[in-house]
Amino acid sequence: VKVNVDLSKTAPFVAAPEIEGLSHLAKESNKALHNGTGKGNDFLGWVNLPFEITNEHILDIKQAAATLSKDVDVVVVIGIGGSYLGAKAVIDALSNSFSQYTKGAHPHIVYAGQNIGEEYHAELLDFIKTQSVSCIVISKSGTTTEPAIAFRLIKQHIEEKYGKEEAKRRIVAITDESKGALRQLADTEGYKTFVIPDNVGGRYSVLTPVGLLPISVAGFDIAKLVEGARLMAEQCKPEIAFAQNPAEQYATIRNVLYKKGKKIEMLVNFNSKLHFMSEWWKQLYGESEGKENKGIFPAAADFSTDLHSMGQYIQEGERILFETFLGIENVSRDLRVPMDKENLDMLNFLADKHIDDVNKMAELGTILAHIDGGVPAIRLGIEKVDETNLGSLIYFFEKACGISGYMLGVNPFNQPGVEAYKANMFALLDKPGFEEEGKKLRARL
Ligand code: PA5
Repeated sequence: VKVNVDLSKTAPFVAAPEIEGLSHLAKESNKALHNGTGKGNDFLGWVNLPFEITNEHILDIKQAAATLSKDVDVVVVIGIGGSYLGAKAVIDALSNSFSQYTKGAHPHIVYAGQNIGEEYHAELLDFIKTQSVSCIVISKSGTTTEPAIAFRLIKQHIEEKYGKEEAKRRIVAITDESKGALRQLADTEGYKTFVIPDNVGGRYSVLTPVGLLPISVAGFDIAKLVEGARLMAEQCKPEIAFAQNPAEQYATIRNVLYKKGKKIEMLVNFNSKLHFMSEWWKQLYGESEGKENKGIFPAAADFSTDLHSMGQYIQEGERILFETFLGIENVSRDLRVPMDKENLDMLNFLADKHIDDVNKMAELGTILAHIDGGVPAIRLGIEKVDETNLGSLIYFFEKACGISGYMLGVNPFNQPGVEAYKANMFALLDKPGFEEEGKKLRARL
């Protein structure tokens, strides 16, 4: 497997020596990730994680998935941010687009605690009333408010419906080894638990049980996902020359373009199943790089859909954008445009063509049009959407993000800015200890 980084469509905007000039910094940054000499070096557990996942660990996760799935229609996965997006991204990418409307061999996965919607959670409780349900609750800190509220609701539902003893089979908690309210609760209730390693931050945790357990419940091959990540980890090591090193290349071109005033990167795809891969990517890059008043703003679009909305801005709006095309070389289905004798819709010039061939021409046409409009285009190509390739892609993006963050001079592994809203929310809710701040805030409203 590989991620093919094609920089040829950035050539009108970037001279080769500019890439060469920054490539050394990419190499040094990559080395710092491996030597632990950079910022945030207590959060580098993800770097070698694919090599450290044992067969026993995979088996343990698969067994837990089987227990959670037994005679179950719906598994509620509770989590937010890094405790939610990775699993959702992989499951959506691998699932049939209409699987939510059909009954398959594996339970449906639904999500909770990724928002504080009263209607959303009330509707979820209505829905699971008639379903056999189990739950995975995920919070590294074990103290995040959104998933904690959702878990209180789902836990009560499960206990009322099945009793406390059966709830132990139907609830798995993924959290810190020793700290946090969720750890205490899970130990007190006797739930099966998995640990999120201390040195792996939320947005880098998809290859821990945070991602692997929900993905396994959804019926996908987590061993292949890990294998894909392992193969990519080999290709992105600092010992691999820049010319062959996809993570260093992607990190470098992003920083070259950023220095030229391209402050927004749009990750775009031509496959609607990848929508949440982009959401995961947005979190990874936005939370890692957006600090100290710097960082590329990560945005995303799903094409062709968004070509008929954001396409106008991309073509002709402010020239502060570059695009990263996530290209999929092969599709797994065979569907062609039918011939129609009457040809009233004038589409017979496409008759017998694969739908994907039309899609590919839309992609190439878009790349060329956007270059003409002043938007540099990076293309990241993977062979197909399967577990191995997605595992590779995930590790590639993680590695490039770590390198890119170091090139920018920030700590890519913290998120101090996320605390500001939480403190205000607690104060406005009069959480014990926040009352004084609450008074001050209310005076400003
Ligand atoms: O990347 C991160 O660290 C965050 O997005 C967290 O994953 C998110 O805030 C959820 O935190 P927790 O798992 O502690 O509930």
